[in-house]
Formats: sequence, C-alpha cells, structure tokens
Amino acid sequence: MAYLNENYLKLKAGYLFPEIARRVNAFSDANPDRAASLIKCGIGDVTEALPDAVREAIHKAVDEMGDRSSFRGYGPEQGYEFLREAIAQNDYKSQGIEIGAHEIFVSDGSKCDSANFLDVLGSKNRIAVMDPVYPVYVDTNVMVGHTGSANDAGRFEGLVYLPCTADNGFVPELPKEAVDIIYLCYPNNPTGTVATREQLEAWVAYAREHKAIILYDAAYVAFVQDDSVPKSIFEIEGAHECAVEFRSFSKNGGFTGTRCAFTVVPEKLMAYDETGDAKPLHGLWSRRQSTKFNGVSYPIQRGAEAIYSDAGQAQVSALIEHYMGNAKLLAGGARAAGLTVYGGEHAPYIWVKNPEGVTSWDAFDKVLNDANVVITPGAGFGSMGEGYFRISAFNSRANAEEVARRLQDIKW
Ligand code: MLT
Repeated sequence: MAYLNENYLKLKAGYLFPEIARRVNAFSDANPDRAASLIKCGIGDVTEALPDAVREAIHKAVDEMGDRSSFRGYGPEQGYEFLREAIAQNDYKSQGIEIGAHEIFVSDGSKCDSANFLDVLGSKNRIAVMDPVYPVYVDTNVMVGHTGSANDAGRFEGLVYLPCTADNGFVPELPKEAVDIIYLCYPNNPTGTVATREQLEAWVAYAREHKAIILYDAAYVAFVQDDSVPKSIFEIEGAHECAVEFRSFSKNGGFTGTRCAFTVVPEKLMAYDETGDAKPLHGLWSRRQSTKFNGVSYPIQRGAEAIYSDAGQAQVSALIEHYMGNAKLLAGGARAAGLTVYGGEHAPYIWVKNPEGVTSWDAFDKVLNDANVVITPGAGFGSMGEGYFRISAFNSRANAEEVARRLQDIKW
C-alpha cells in the first residue's frame, strides 16, 4: 500500500489563481456573449513583449547551442558565472551593498525558491507569515508538515500570523512571542505597499536578537519609484547574518513564461543544529541545488544577463513605466467609484477596500458581473484580506483605461 502525504489534505480548496480561473471559466460558459470583452486583472502576470535586448540575447545563445563548438550541456546548478557576476555588480555592488557572485543562486523562480528553501530549514521552527500573504508561503509550509489544520478563518494551527492592516500601513508589528522564520515581502504582494528603512531595521534587529531568519521576497523591487524606499534587505546593517533574499526577472523583464530568478544566501547566514551550534546555510543551499536542480537553460540566462545591458535597462524602465502608468489609472478608477485605495505607487498592485459589508468574494462577483473584469478577492490572501480586493496593473494601456472606466461606473 502506498501512503500519501496527508499534509496535502489539510490545504484549503485549490491554489487561489486556479480557483479564480475556474470561476471565470464558469462565468464565461454561462455568458458567452461577454467573453470577448472580459478583462483580466487577477493574477499578476505580465502582458507586454520581452524586451528586444533579451530576445536578441536568447536568439544568439540558441544559435551558439546549434554549433558543436559553442554547444553547452549541463550548466552549473547555481547559475552561470556571467549572470551571477552581472547580478552582484548591478543589483548590489553598484548600490553599495556587499554581495558576492558566489552568494547568488540563479533559479527558475522565486515561488519555487521560497518553497524549496524549506529543505534546508529544520522542522521545529516557529514560522511567521504576514496576513494577507502570498499564499505560497503558507501552503508550502502546510505541505511539508509545519502546521496543523486550518480553522474556519483559514488560518493554520502552528503558524504565527502577523496582521497587516490599514492602521499599520500593511507592515506588521514585531511579534510578541519568539519566532524563528519570518516571511516578509516588499514591495508587497498583495497590498502593493512598501516598508520603510526604519521598519526593516526593526525586523533585522528582531531577527538577530532571536537568531531568526527573514525570508525576504523582493520580486517587485523594480517597481520602487523612490530612493527612500529600501530595495534590498541587505541595505540594512546586520541583514547578511539573518536574511535570504528572493528576486525575480519575471515582473521587470517579463520572464513569467521564460523563467529566471535568483536567491541570495549570504555566506554569513547561520542556522542552528540541535546542540545550538551555528552552521552556515550557504553550503547547504548550494548542496540542495546541486542535487535537486539542474539550473536554468543557457539561452534564458543569457536573456536575463541582457537585462543589465544599457539597452536592456532602458527597455525594462519603459516596461515599468508602462505598468506603473496603468496602476495610476486603475487606482484613479477605483477612487472615482468612492473606494479607498492602497498601494500602486511602488508596486503593480492596487489594494482596494470594499464598501462596508461587502465580502471579498462578493466584490469579485460584482466586479465580474457588473464590469466584466476579473480581480483577486483579498480573502484569497488570508483572513486579514477579507473586505479587500486586489487589482493587477499588468495589462495593455487600452485595457487599463477601459477597466478604470468600468470600475468608476460600478454602483456599490
Ligand atoms: C500574483 O498574482 O500574486 C502573482 O502572479 C504571483 C506569482 O508571481 O506567483
């Protein structure tokens, strides 16, 4: 008899985005005449074409693979040196942050890395997540057995939920109890808000005091518009000893389908064995990747490298400007309907407060029925997301303008 991993049975319904897709398909089947004008602002998936510089680099690399003398088989599991160096130089050293190429691990996504990182962490950790939260952090902890069952509010026993509310600017207070692993995500998905340097300093101080580790998801950092907002956790003194940073080319370079990301594991980062001895995680993560991962394909890593070229930088800036222009229009549309809006200034997500008494899924249905627009119900991100919905700014300009008009016309 083969036994299954019963932890999977604890998961609530489907993963949020497939669940939304299921509901939208049902709506489209029931309303075939509206399918053509349906606009999707649900999942945060990029819509604009890959930058030219990236495409050219990928083409060139594919041609190299077509010639025996420049063909490459297995690459280094941690990523090619050319890309690791480009990342270290452009994303860190040029900003005055000391991160070496050997501390950068190229991968096929931040979602996978944030989940896979649990492989090198023990099973006794007290884990803290923000609420609302990117559901992957919670579900992957459920899958590996770090939690009990979920209660009626969808909260899993054993996790420490850190409420993120309008009152705290969607940056959680430090926990009253000791926790060992803390997931933070800024610019934040889903609320589109950012944390200040002082707030991150407080988190780093907390982590150091408790010998805890911050898993810092900075997948949306390219959308930060202002130098006063920290772009990396490693801008904060002491973070090299207590943080891992996840970054991605998905949202800046349009790589959601192409797949390339990276995780920074500083050499100084320590976790503890049963006897309390500190051990570096860098080598364990490297070992994990060598065993379970074969790296990202050579052409795609060349494409990612091209993001750092002058042409690539200019093209990525234009993409960011495009999506942030959409964010402004969408926030304006929601405000014009009388709704309170958060985020959208340093992130491609707008977090909208529902009118009093309207639940997240009610708002989802209303926006779908009245405006023929798909949004994401806040409750899908956790119990503190109830009463909100998220609008993604990843769209064409014409669609963003149309959605802004339709949102404005909704009578709540
Ligand atoms: C989202 O909509 O939250 C994103 O698509 C999540 C992701 O990048 O996996």
